[in-house]
Amino acid sequence: MSEPLIHVENLTKIFTSGLIGGFEIRAVDDVTFDIKKGEIVSLVGESGSGKTTIGKLILRLITPTSGRILFKGENILEFDKKRLKKYYYKHVQAVFQDPFASFNPVYPIDRAFDLVFNSFLPKVGPGERDELIDNALEQVGLNPDEIRGKYPHQLSGGQLQRILIARALLVEPELLIADEAVSMLDASTRIDILNLLGEVRDKLGTSVLFVTHDLALGYYISDKTIIMYRGTIVEMGDTEKVFKNALHPYTRMLLESVPDLNVKWEFRKSIEPEKEEEGVYQIQGCRYAPRCPLVKDVCWREKPKLVEVEKDHWVACHLHGGE
Ligand SMILES: Nc1ncnc2c1ncn2[C@@H]1O[C@H](COP(=O)(O)OP(=O)(O)O)[C@@H](O)[C@H]1O
Ligand SMILES: [Mg+2]
Repeated sequence: MSEPLIHVENLTKIFTSGLIGGFEIRAVDDVTFDIKKGEIVSLVGESGSGKTTIGKLILRLITPTSGRILFKGENILEFDKKRLKKYYYKHVQAVFQDPFASFNPVYPIDRAFDLVFNSFLPKVGPGERDELIDNALEQVGLNPDEIRGKYPHQLSGGQLQRILIARALLVEPELLIADEAVSMLDASTRIDILNLLGEVRDKLGTSVLFVTHDLALGYYISDKTIIMYRGTIVEMGDTEKVFKNALHPYTRMLLESVPDLNVKWEFRKSIEPEKEEEGVYQIQGCRYAPRCPLVKDVCWREKPKLVEVEKDHWVACHLHGGE
């Protein structure tokens, strides 16, 4: 089998809440998964499950407490600043939730591209820059004549998010991390942007880590789905298998709150995140035990292991061989 593009291994990130007497938040707890070349992987879970922290760790914006992140077999934690800038960030780019916050309102949107040219493509001259920007805008379905020179307030959220994707594509990245990148857009624009990410993958072979609290979006877009709960992976695998044969009680609960997965543009009501509770992070066993309708004694005592229950389908649950 070929080497994955990204291999995350036993990744753990512990934060401490508050200053004095704070408790440990195991935001990411012993997480292992792969992203293959050209694969769209969605990372799904309710608010506070550790999704953004994983994205930030892969982007090296924060340092893990333990574990490894391999990019094409190389441990990115060993990259110095220069190698991150000159090499890694040419291959791994990100798009975030709020497109309006990513632009300076007093400048035309063209300015947003300067950052990428100055940081990663300094040798490209002004004329060539213009050409590359036009090409990138066309690639994401925008007409450069209608977009260039405009100010952020003259454009819609969907157009701005397309521009940010175009900017990320300038360096021809191999991985695009999209963290709640469509959450602020209206439903029809969401689908357009999801389809655009699919096209980018199909045409350019870009892998996508699609981070979302919305299970239906993950189903719509991804080849592989990772379901997170409180820092741990509870279920993972081929998207069709995870959705059609969901085994973990948490995945099933999420699925039940999706109105109709066949009507992919209808979205479930978002689940209210639980209040942060110290107790959850002190449970020796399964973090989902306090909410699980099928909880057994062993669930409180032992952390279930992630086991492969069928090909490309993994579950961490004592009801399914997780002992
Ligand atoms: N810088 C930080 N300091 C302390 N706690 C943090 C920090 N960043 C995230 N957390 C905590 O880590 C947990 C996971 O957060 P996050 O990764 O943002 O989840 P998600 O993206 O799934 O909503 C949450 O409990 C959050 O409060
Ligand atoms: Mg998040």
